[in-house]
Amino acid sequence: MRGQLLKSRFSRIIAVLFLGSLLASLIWYTKLNLSSECHGLDKAIITQNNKPVGSQIVTDLNKNTLQVTPELFSIFMMLCHLSFMNTEHPFPNKTWDTCAVVGNGGILINSSCGESIDSAQFVIRCNLPPLANGFEKHVGVKTDLVTANPSIFLNKYGALMGRRRPFVESLHIYGNSLLLLYSFFNPAVSLRAIDAINDFESPIRPVFLNPDYLNSLFLFWRSLGLREARLSTGLIMASLALEICSNVHLYGFWPFSYHPHDLHPLTNHYYDNVQAKPQVHAMPAEFDLLMRLHSQGVLRLHLGDCPTGGK
Ligand SMILES: *[C@@H]1O[C@H](CO)[C@@H](O)[C@H](O)[C@H]1NC(C)=O
Ligand SMILES: *[C@@H]1O[C@H](CO)[C@@H](O)[C@H](O)[C@H]1NC(C)=O
Repeated sequence: MRGQLLKSRFSRIIAVLFLGSLLASLIWYTKLNLSSECHGLDKAIITQNNKPVGSQIVTDLNKNTLQVTPELFSIFMMLCHLSFMNTEHPFPNKTWDTCAVVGNGGILINSSCGESIDSAQFVIRCNLPPLANGFEKHVGVKTDLVTANPSIFLNKYGALMGRRRPFVESLHIYGNSLLLLYSFFNPAVSLRAIDAINDFESPIRPVFLNPDYLNSLFLFWRSLGLREARLSTGLIMASLALEICSNVHLYGFWPFSYHPHDLHPLTNHYYDNVQAKPQVHAMPAEFDLLMRLHSQGVLRLHLGDCPTGGK
């Protein structure tokens, strides 16, 4: 009897050890392969090196393409010059110690996470989110990279056809961060945004996300079981952070309409309650993936209020 018991304990310990090493190898798999398969450091941003004249840029899910003309190329050159001082890519050849990626979930309301977020070396934000008017305490203000989906230019700034000053003024809060322009689906509006930034001498540094990078990320996560037509900005930025930082912290990533701790109802974003179009992103599937990465120690999801330094 006792021998049996010992044996079953022993095999349980072996199983735990085995599972542990399996998880550890999954961690390495995720980290190493993201860099070797997706090349975020070199490929995430369009540069004059990775998109020479005559190359193609995929503009949408139907794989329509846009050819890099000499005019477009000269814009990439100008952006390289302005945005990363003539280096080949915008991320210096080093990894940061800690990155914070801020999703815009309603879970950040009254979280007091601003200080923790701002303490990261590199802070990534999504879709030009508001940071002032009382949000600072909960979401912070430090921004090193902020994404801009063209729909913002279309919906909020009249496609930048009229007055452009309000748009440029809205960028002030992000200082000289990188402004990551998303998608070539509507390149004209992105180019008008760049013009406005130059004309008003905004310090923000616009760059284009490279659709080739998106595609390699898409294939990478699909190989790990994520089935969805399009990755969310949050997951794309979390992936980029995994390539450029040793420790990745995610805030505001919680796709449900109630708080995980006391179940109080949450708005969709910390600044509004506009609902995403259904079926565009498989948010719970992405969240499930992030939870797995969290439990394997690949990244850290913050789902509670933050300690406020004992003050
Ligand atoms: C970046 O760093 C790696 C390892 O330190 C080195 O092998 C590589 O040549 C460096 N690349 C550039 C562009 O400096
Ligand atoms: C956030 O905190 C403020 C001040 O304590 C309170 O008035 C407000 O109702 C809170 N909001 C939510 C959504 O809990």
